Amino acid sequence: MSSPAKPIIFSGIQPTGRKHLGNYIGAIRQYVEGQDRGEPAIFCVVDLHSISVAYDPADLRERVLDTAAILLAAGLDPERCVFFRQSDVAAHAEMTWLLSAVTSHGDLNRMTQFKEKTGSARDLASAALFYYPVLMAADVLVYRATEVPVGDDQRQHVELMREIARRFNERFGETLVIPDLKVPEVGARIMDLQEPERKMSTTGGTESGTVLVLDDEKTIRKKVGSAVTDSGREVVASPDKPGVTNLIDILAVARGVGRAEIEREFDGAGYGDFKGAVADGVVELLAPVRARYAELRPDEAALERVLLAGAEKAATIAAPVLADVRARMGFG
Ligand code: TYM
Repeated sequence: MSSPAKPIIFSGIQPTGRKHLGNYIGAIRQYVEGQDRGEPAIFCVVDLHSISVAYDPADLRERVLDTAAILLAAGLDPERCVFFRQSDVAAHAEMTWLLSAVTSHGDLNRMTQFKEKTGSARDLASAALFYYPVLMAADVLVYRATEVPVGDDQRQHVELMREIARRFNERFGETLVIPDLKVPEVGARIMDLQEPERKMSTTGGTESGTVLVLDDEKTIRKKVGSAVTDSGREVVASPDKPGVTNLIDILAVARGVGRAEIEREFDGAGYGDFKGAVADGVVELLAPVRARYAELRPDEAALERVLLAGAEKAATIAAPVLADVRARMGFG
């Protein structure tokens, strides 16, 4: 399928109130930027994905609302994008099953996130966790999205969805669009502040090395202040200085400049001054989101209205694509 002039943007995010600086820099900022470029720009809280690991049903709805409020606080505007909850649009689940016909067991077995998340307990993992990348492919392909803004950790999943679209078109005729990955130039992989060889993450990272979007100023300053740097004194980005490189990237994003400018500014300065500036930058980046979140989160009825209106729009976009897929596959 040929791509339209303006991108059709799609991305998804897991429901949790513990969204972190990595999510914000790697993904959420890209969503906000994409709203005016995409036609449409579609963003979704992926509650169906979240049941692939242990969870509490009573908690799920609350966490969806937390995430919705964080994204709206960060600048998503339901007038300029389609913003909804995945489980409100049944097309995602149906498309998953249909796409499983062109996804092999071997494809899913190769997914590094599945291997990392299950470790030696693979036999106990849910089938949903194994199927996770097929649902993710369905999310994107059912809108014929052309662009998928994500952090670097989703690269392999996006490669697989491209392959699934290609195979579907080969097997059943040109139907699906092959989407492009979009990762930010700086900040595609924000690392844990305590263990900078690992990505920042609320599931696999350290508590004090993970800055949450909703952390207060004091907590942010404490976490950044105790970030692991390296031996030496120079503020330069290099592979043997993962801690400093990570902080340079964070400050570059917060200031909207390149790595080189940060290196130049802190040439000859000590790590203390540098970390102080990083903490200032992160506080400036996140404090407005936290304040706006506090205004938005209490009004659950308003959040539900936004998500439902978004789901109606999303369902309308997905319906003709799903109908094409069904027809090509010989259903109905
Ligand atoms: P999730 O909720 O884990 O993460 C949301 C987004 O944040 C990015 N991200 C990071 N970016 C930079 N540095 C980090 N340390 C970091 N950690 C996370 C992720 O790459 C992601 O873009 N599987 C997805 C959700 C999903 C999806 C989709 C995404 C479901 N369907 C369809 C795109 C398209 C996930 O778990 O995101």
